[in-house]
Amino acid sequence: MSTKGTVVEQAQALIEGESNLISALANVAAVIHAEWSEVALWSGFYLVQNDRLELGPFQGPVACTKIEYGKGVCGTSWKNNESIIVDDVHRHEGHIACSSFSNSEIVVPIINAKNLVVGVLDLDSDKFAAFTNDHKKDLELICTSIAQQFFN
Ligand code: SME
Repeated sequence: MSTKGTVVEQAQALIEGESNLISALANVAAVIHAEWSEVALWSGFYLVQNDRLELGPFQGPVACTKIEYGKGVCGTSWKNNESIIVDDVHRHEGHIACSSFSNSEIVVPIINAKNLVVGVLDLDSDKFAAFTNDHKKDLELICTSIAQQFFN
């Protein structure tokens, strides 16, 4: 392991040292994207605004800006209040294709103190089945830190 720490440790340090939500999310997206560059084609956030998910800080190709409740993998994660791993997005009903290069995806909700989803962390990969339970655990730890710092 490098001296800069794990992805979770780096992300938590960036979150805990920051008072501005957008700044924190931008840096977290950058860390994840850099550290997991072998799998991450797109790494970023959608935030609940105006009763839908709206695009937040991200790294990667241009993405769709608005996702309705229950739509796509992101909107389903919001609706179900749970993380979702999709091994093959082409076989996932309702998947919203932002990039034609995306083949698998993981979405983790950010859940506030009232148990409401306030946003999601979304990673897309050009590889099939790129995301494991280890990724899920790490991203859930990061989303918990975001919730504690900004949505408590
Ligand atoms: N594929 C997502 C849409 C967001 S992009 O992947 C960045 C979905 O189905 O919700």
